[in-house]
Amino acid sequence: MLYQAPRGTTDIVPQDQPCWRYIKNAIANICMIYGYQRIDTPVFENAGLFVRSIGEETDIVEKEMYTFEDRGGEMLTLRPEGTASICRAYLEHGMHNLTQPVKLYYITQIFRYERPQAGRFRQHWQFGFEAIGDADPALDAEVIDMAWSLYSQIGLQDLVLKLNSIGCKNCRPQYLAVLKDYYAEKSDHLCTDCKRRAERNTLRLLDCKNESCIPLAKQAPKSFDHLCAECGEHFELLKKYLTILGLGFDVDHRLVRGLDYYTKTVFEIQPPGARGAQSTIGGGGRYDDLIEDIGGKRTPAVGFATGFERIILNLKHQNVPLPDFSTPTIFVAFLGQEAKDQAMEYVARMHREGMGALLASGNRSLKAQMRQSNAVGANHTIIIGEDELKDGVVMMRDMSGGEQQRLAFDEVLSLLRG
Ligand code: HAM
Repeated sequence: MLYQAPRGTTDIVPQDQPCWRYIKNAIANICMIYGYQRIDTPVFENAGLFVRSIGEETDIVEKEMYTFEDRGGEMLTLRPEGTASICRAYLEHGMHNLTQPVKLYYITQIFRYERPQAGRFRQHWQFGFEAIGDADPALDAEVIDMAWSLYSQIGLQDLVLKLNSIGCKNCRPQYLAVLKDYYAEKSDHLCTDCKRRAERNTLRLLDCKNESCIPLAKQAPKSFDHLCAECGEHFELLKKYLTILGLGFDVDHRLVRGLDYYTKTVFEIQPPGARGAQSTIGGGGRYDDLIEDIGGKRTPAVGFATGFERIILNLKHQNVPLPDFSTPTIFVAFLGQEAKDQAMEYVARMHREGMGALLASGNRSLKAQMRQSNAVGANHTIIIGEDELKDGVVMMRDMSGGEQQRLAFDEVLSLLRG
């Protein structure tokens, strides 16, 4: 039997790596500019952490978590998102004693048992960042600005920023009551999922993608018309700050996000003409109750995450050119055992100098070695034959133009050092 990668997972093969490196370089730069520090947390956590934070009624907790009992009888879950782990680590490491907000970022695998399709995997990679310990809407604006800057820096264009406020513990119950009333007499027109969710997770009815539910959601009462004074002011200030930062946005009352921990601000960044949930490139929002919900003191926070695979899909759609990361390589070919010994020594000397050098493999004909040099994309090939050995020189061939020079190896080194 020939094994394959499990359904919904992919290998990142060598030819894909430049694209990943391109994105990771941009992330490192953006995090430095905005003052975020890297954090890495375990791949699995106690299952309860995710159930408490993401919410029992969500698709993620209901249907998508990889949860297992370990040999010691503990229920563990492979991370289905990053924020809960970061909040757990924030508390565990006493980061509430540091100057607030604490700004952290992560690049990590996420596991969700979803139905695989383009841009939707069972294991995917996320870049996320969280600003913890500050309730100021200026921080929401900064988080959105940072997400936007990342996409701009890597060359994605014409993206759309969708924005909403879903209120807080104080004002949301009243809004939910209004929303339930609205849906109560329309239940015959709802899809089966929405019928089921109508009582316990009414907000999610708003972002249902089912054709029969969309018109109802469009006409539904809007959360931002039912905000308390504090949430209303927060939303107004956020919109003002985004305008100051030069960021355009669409307020969309149907944007509610798939995790229950959000309060006030929710936002998503989508490619032009996006249709369906899996086209969103990144999303986030404020989660002022989450840290309290997992046992800490009330600590306001806001964050964002984006999927690498979705970014790559969009880079490809938009034909964004990637920089060439290949390092100059010198290929060393030889004829005979004595030349091979010499070649090995030269390759080692180049490696010690930090130069990319490759020794021809096997003991093949010169023709076969030149083919190998071409295949690895070498810039220069150094050839050591009997004559060269006798005269204490090498033949250096420029692989782009084909010119050859007989040189002492030290001369080669100085040429290559530039
Ligand atoms: P999320 O919207 O569930 O948010 O995921 C963030 C991003 O991860 C999505 O916008 C998408 O790019 C990518 N993504 C999600 N699921 C998949 C999948 N199955 N396959 C490929 N890519 C996927 C969160 O996870 C929140 N923790 C974001 C956040 C951070 N909120 C506050 N701080």
